[in-house]
Amino acid sequence: MAIIFEPNKKIFTLHTKNSTYQIQISKYGHLIHNYYGSKIENMDLSYLIQGINRGFSGSPYEAMAVEDRGYSLDTYPQEYPTYGIGDYRSSCLSVEHEDGSQAAELIYDSYKIYQGKYQLKGLPAVWAKENEAQTLEITLKDKYSDVKVILYYGVLEEFDVITRACTIYNEGEYPIYLNKVFSCCIDFWKNNMEMISFYGRHAMERTLQRRKIEHGKLSVGSTRGTSSHQHNPFVILCEEGVGEDHGVCYGASFVYSGNFIAEAEVDQINHTRFVMGIHPEGFRYYVEPKDCFFAPEVVFVYSDAGMGEMSRKLHDLYRNNLIRSKFMHERRPVLLNNWEATEFDFTQEHLVEIAKAGRELGIELFVMDDGWFGERDHDKAGLGDWFPNKKKLPNGVKGLAEQIHALGMKFGLWIEPEMINEDSELYRNHADWCLSIPNRKPNVERGQLVLDMSRKDVRDYLYDSISKILDEAKVDYVKWDMNRNLSDVWSAKVPSYRQGEVSHRYVLGVYELMERFMSNYPDILWEGCSGGGGRFDAGILYYMPQIWCSDNTDAIERTSIQYGTSFGYPISCMGAHVSAVPNHQTGRSVSLNTRAEVAMAGTFGYEMDLGTLREEEKEIVRSQIQEFKKYYNIIQYGDYYRLTNPLEEEVAIWQFVDKEKKKALVSVVSLRTRANAPFIKVYLKGLKEDSLYRIDDGEEVYRGSALMKAGFHIPVLKGDYSSLHFYIREIEV
Ligand code: GLA
Repeated sequence: MAIIFEPNKKIFTLHTKNSTYQIQISKYGHLIHNYYGSKIENMDLSYLIQGINRGFSGSPYEAMAVEDRGYSLDTYPQEYPTYGIGDYRSSCLSVEHEDGSQAAELIYDSYKIYQGKYQLKGLPAVWAKENEAQTLEITLKDKYSDVKVILYYGVLEEFDVITRACTIYNEGEYPIYLNKVFSCCIDFWKNNMEMISFYGRHAMERTLQRRKIEHGKLSVGSTRGTSSHQHNPFVILCEEGVGEDHGVCYGASFVYSGNFIAEAEVDQINHTRFVMGIHPEGFRYYVEPKDCFFAPEVVFVYSDAGMGEMSRKLHDLYRNNLIRSKFMHERRPVLLNNWEATEFDFTQEHLVEIAKAGRELGIELFVMDDGWFGERDHDKAGLGDWFPNKKKLPNGVKGLAEQIHALGMKFGLWIEPEMINEDSELYRNHADWCLSIPNRKPNVERGQLVLDMSRKDVRDYLYDSISKILDEAKVDYVKWDMNRNLSDVWSAKVPSYRQGEVSHRYVLGVYELMERFMSNYPDILWEGCSGGGGRFDAGILYYMPQIWCSDNTDAIERTSIQYGTSFGYPISCMGAHVSAVPNHQTGRSVSLNTRAEVAMAGTFGYEMDLGTLREEEKEIVRSQIQEFKKYYNIIQYGDYYRLTNPLEEEVAIWQFVDKEKKKALVSVVSLRTRANAPFIKVYLKGLKEDSLYRIDDGEEVYRGSALMKAGFHIPVLKGDYSSLHFYIREIEV
């Protein structure tokens, strides 16, 4: 049993393959966190929780009545701490009652354990078959009001995953406000911990940053309305010194695409609190009597064998139990996108020429990017007008799609449903459909405003106009972009006391629309995007199997971006393309080989006019596409190993190993060239110790243990940013 309740001891114990999580109901009915860490069986860990009377840390009334001064919510580890009742660390819930008071003392009421995994209404979440997961629901009630909280724990034993979420119910007669609702808290009773987070900016997403958690709050988050380029809603909590292959670490991934916060602090008695949830800034949720609020899910993945193993578990979980698209298990076509080749300036003939040149080299899918609709000749017009621009596409999207299909290729389309330009028919007819505050000029980004996705009429318009195109033309792929952050968040459809809900309702609206499209067009391959990787999160992956990783297509910068992304997300979901040189974002020139080497650690495709290449370059592209197809299964379904850290080392090396450990692919990219360079020695990972392997077509045979323990020398790489890969396969003896 993954979940055990012992009524006499009043403890819940959750086991995964390698971890244990324990909760106790205290003598006063509060939910106390006993432990989360390496697996411990048959043990009541309540002995760990000891209270000492500490000054300025009060006790609940009942405890003080019996002189139990050591029992303090301010020092005890808790499952779901609340604001206003004497725990001064980060709380998870702040409720404002009818009389303006802000407190909730949550007391244990009941529990439920069942096979399978809970789901959350209107929100993305990890899913599981009955035999893959168990759920624990714990119901808590405020001692003095009709606020009820259900905490959800999903245990996916094989993945070493515990998910958390909760629902807040108003069972009273008066409305309440939720001023803050986080999804989870974990109080680790130790203080030697670090938080690894992934920061960035447009065109430079998910750079790893590692910081010690100390006294005072360490917090990352987004108030941009999306998960953002600046901070990713995935963090790692680990013990000091944890590396790729050793040490205890916990990945925490928020399955949500809007404002978020991940916050850690060491408290006054040197214990570490971690909380995660929707960012409280600007958030205020009005809950009517008999209504409720669902807080999104956080996925915790545990490893005591370092961050490499942690990532691989998460990759497996997301590939098998989060992403729903059929394309997760089908080979996705090699793609060619026209954006960097033409931007807005194209004609149908030109696109067909680009596609044709790609087809000759083996490209399977042609994607028409931005610029095909309304008066979209530049970035200040057209968004919202989801009908073809007749100057560019005289026979509509259908006409172009037919031509592309006639070439024997699949056809894809770019859309940006959530946006509107003031210079558009949509804005002229429905100015109130965008987020903006009356009597204020809104903040504008890239010449566009944001549609109020919390409105059903807006979503219906988007669904109808875009599905009209998807029905008329045969569309095999859609890239769903989102090119600015939210500001001036105010909805014309919502009363003043509900305006604090709009950012969250926006995300729910986006999810509702995505769900409608995904379920009605399951044969389309959907790719998420937000100015590259500005909304690269587990929430989007529930709807779409891949996300454009970054607008930065420079292969060298991409090694760090993809490295950072790989900690929390599988390779098969990272959109990666070969683009022209000098690179549009950095001006750097890197060989075609290296550009493909890096793009192959992703969904792989091209973003340039392949017709402009020299004959010998075309030949290279042709063979790259063949190679990618050859290695597709290892890359997309295999295990991923980070062999170096490109942020700190002179060479980026990564490795894929198939699940049977019979085949492996190692990629090497030189980030710095030096004369008379020292050897680069690589220690392979994930092979079978006793098996014999051959490298490429070489004569030599190596034992797995040798390649992993003694290592292997990589040929000296000469020239700027050169690269190579080698293929390792087991030989039968
Ligand atoms: C965003 C995307 C790009 C491209 C442009 C088009 O920046 O990330 O790939 O689609 O929009 O405007």
